[in-house]
Amino acid sequence: LCPALNSLFLAKLWAVSSRSCSFLDSLRNEDIQPFSTVLTDSFGRHHNYLRISLTEKCNLRCQYCMPEKGVKLTPRSQLLSTSEVLTIARLFVQEGVDKIRLTGGEPLIRPDLLDIIIELRKLNGLKTIAVTTNGIHLAKPLSRLKEAGLDLINISLDSLVPAKFEFIVRRRGFHKVMEGIDKAIELGFTPVKINCVVMRGLNEDELLDFVRLTEKKPLEVRFIEYMPFDGNKWNFKKMVSYQEILDHIKQQWPNLEMIQTGCANTAKMFKVPGFEGHLGFITSMSEHFCGSCNRLRITADGNLKVCLFGNSEFSLRDALRSGASDEELLQVIGAAVGRKKKEHAGMFKISQMMNRPMILIGG
Ligand SMILES: C[S@@+](CC[C@H](N)C(=O)[O-])C[C@H]1O[C@@H](n2cnc3c(N)ncnc32)[C@H](O)[C@@H]1O
Ligand code: SF4
Repeated sequence: LCPALNSLFLAKLWAVSSRSCSFLDSLRNEDIQPFSTVLTDSFGRHHNYLRISLTEKCNLRCQYCMPEKGVKLTPRSQLLSTSEVLTIARLFVQEGVDKIRLTGGEPLIRPDLLDIIIELRKLNGLKTIAVTTNGIHLAKPLSRLKEAGLDLINISLDSLVPAKFEFIVRRRGFHKVMEGIDKAIELGFTPVKINCVVMRGLNEDELLDFVRLTEKKPLEVRFIEYMPFDGNKWNFKKMVSYQEILDHIKQQWPNLEMIQTGCANTAKMFKVPGFEGHLGFITSMSEHFCGSCNRLRITADGNLKVCLFGNSEFSLRDALRSGASDEELLQVIGAAVGRKKKEHAGMFKISQMMNRPMILIGG
C-alpha cells in the first residue's frame, strides 16, 4: 500500500478493531478521523448517540413506564435549564456525537423545545435531531419543529383500540395520537417510527393489526420488549419475546424478509414483501445489543447515565454549576464512559436492581 492508503487503512483498523461492525461497513463511512477517547469506553465502543431527557413530567401515565400514583418530581431549579442543555449538547457534539434524541417524560410539554431544536441545529457535526413523543400534542407544532431542524420522530402507540389505549396510558387521547402520526407522514418524515411496547394479556392480540399499519403507510412499527424499571411491576410472564412476536407474525406472513441495517441499529428490521413500511424489534431483554451500544443518556436533572439499565450516574449539572471548565467536564464524562460495563446484568437481575422509573430516565 502507498503511505497515504496505509495510514488510512491503519486508522480504520484502529477505529473498528473492537467493534462489532464489519470492516467494510467502516470503510464506507466517510469520516476516517479516530473517534474521541472521551466517548470511547474500555471495550472500544464509540458513543456517538446522546439521548437528552427534557422533562420528568408527562401528560400520560403509561402502566409500563411509571407507577399509577406518579413519581416524585425534582424541583424545577434542579432541572437543566435551556442553556445547560445546550452546553452539554455542544460538548458531546464537539467530541463526536452526531445524533441527539430529545425525550422525557413528554418532551413536547417543555415550552422551549422549539428553541432547543433551533440551537442544536447550529451545532457543527450534529447530523440528526430526533424526538420521541407520546404524540398527544404533536399535530399542531410539528411543522414548526420540522422547519427548526427536526429530522426524525418516534411516536409511542401501544394499542389501536381506543378504549385499550386509554387503559394502558391511564388517560384519554387516542385520536390525537393518530392525528399526530398522520401529520408526521404528511410532512414527509421517513420513516415515521411507531414505538409499541408489547405486553402479554394487554396488546399481544393486536400484533397483526400493527403489522397491517405498514401496508400502505411509510411507517416503521417497532415492537419493544417490555423492560423492568422501578415501579412498573415488571414480570417475566408479561414480557412477550422477540422470537414469540416474530413466530406469530410469520404464521400470517411466512415470507417476512429480514433487512440489513447499519451496525449500530438497535432494531432488528423486517419487511412484509409489498408493504410500504417496515417492522423493527427492540430485543433489549431476550437478545441484548450491548456489544454495539453507542448511546449515552442525560436525565432531566442533569445526570449522565452510561447504561439504561445501570444505576451509576454522574451529575453534570452539579459540575456545570460549580463552574467546571469544558476540559474538566470532559474529564468526568470520559471517566464515566470509561467505567461503562460490558453488558447489562440480564433481565432477572435488572428487575431486582434499584434504578429510576423509566419516566425519570428518558427512554
Ligand atoms: C419514556 S418514553 C419518553 C418519550 C415519550 N413520552 C413517549 O412516550 O414516547 C420513551 C419510550 O420508552 C418506552 N418505554 C417506557 N417504559 C418502557 C418499558 N418498561 N419497557 C419498554 N419500553 C418502555 C416508551 O414506550 C417510549 O416509546
Ligand atoms: S412512556 Fe412516555 S407517555 Fe408514557 S408515561 Fe412514560 S413518558 Fe409518559
